[in-house]
Amino acid sequence: MHRYRPTPIPGSEITAEASYYRRRDILRMGAVGGFSLAAPSLAFSATELAAKPGGYDPKEELTAEADATSYNNFYEFGTGKADPAAKSGDFNPTPWTVKVDGMVGKPAEFDLDALMALGLEERIYRMRCVEAWSMVIPWIGFPLASLLDRVEPLGSAKYVAFETVVRPEEMPGQRGIFQPLNWPYVEGLRLDEARHPLTILSMGLYGKTLPNQNGAPVRLVTPWKYGFKGIKSIVRITLTEEQPASTWNRLAPSEYGFYANVNPEVDHPRWSQAVENRIGGGGFFGSNERPTLPFNGYGDEVASLYEGMDLKANF
Ligand code: MTE
Repeated sequence: MHRYRPTPIPGSEITAEASYYRRRDILRMGAVGGFSLAAPSLAFSATELAAKPGGYDPKEELTAEADATSYNNFYEFGTGKADPAAKSGDFNPTPWTVKVDGMVGKPAEFDLDALMALGLEERIYRMRCVEAWSMVIPWIGFPLASLLDRVEPLGSAKYVAFETVVRPEEMPGQRGIFQPLNWPYVEGLRLDEARHPLTILSMGLYGKTLPNQNGAPVRLVTPWKYGFKGIKSIVRITLTEEQPASTWNRLAPSEYGFYANVNPEVDHPRWSQAVENRIGGGGFFGSNERPTLPFNGYGDEVASLYEGMDLKANF
């Protein structure tokens, strides 16, 4: 029986000594009798995790947990990178339900235990932000395809639309005079992208439940796309026939395409996408530049999804 238990330590209080989480360590801790004995703050047990050794591991150094949980984009809590960690303390992600509807045979609502029961795995993915920085993060989640299978998409469904919660009382970025975006934050994928085995809904990172600033309790991760596709705190998933709206594309269509595939040949109007700065390794912005790879290095897995498409026009 899967029981969602929020990690007791708020991410905003995680300090440097806890920051270097290593995949080896999680596997070793699992081998010696489970996380709860080895590290009381980990909310997922080894059996719940069923980490897949070697699967999707880019074998690159993990970003420090303290960086991944303190340098965030989550405009519902403010537009500054430090705002999500600093201003999400009032956000309460439990209880929670995700409604799945639209062009499906069996619309349903999933609570957190039902989502966990879809089978959590650890996936170490590179994440590349459109703002030219990148991280390597050990996510915990389940394939989105597992959820979609449950609701039985109809033959006419072509896209999947996602929606974030709207809670001005808990989300300071949704209050006040300056509203940077239209709420709810929305995103979309083509159905085949959504069903791709790399696409997960994440419920945790670094062996813990997702901190609020990273999109608690459940968010999208598509590692071959720019980070803005990774919509956080999802409350609704709708299968559609027409291409759904996406927040950044609606705001600035010339800067943010619907597809948002990482493509070093398509520059953002305000900066190059040819190189990226890997967060960590030196100062916070230590000189850690490296070339950006097509599809963020996941071309072998996903390039076939876009055969015949002009990826400069469909950016
Ligand atoms: N989801 C919501 N609801 N609101 C947001 O502002 N920002 C996006 C994405 N998901 C955002 C969101 C952007 S621009 C990025 S780069 C990633 O979240 C950042 O994810 P991270 O903070 O976990 O690294």
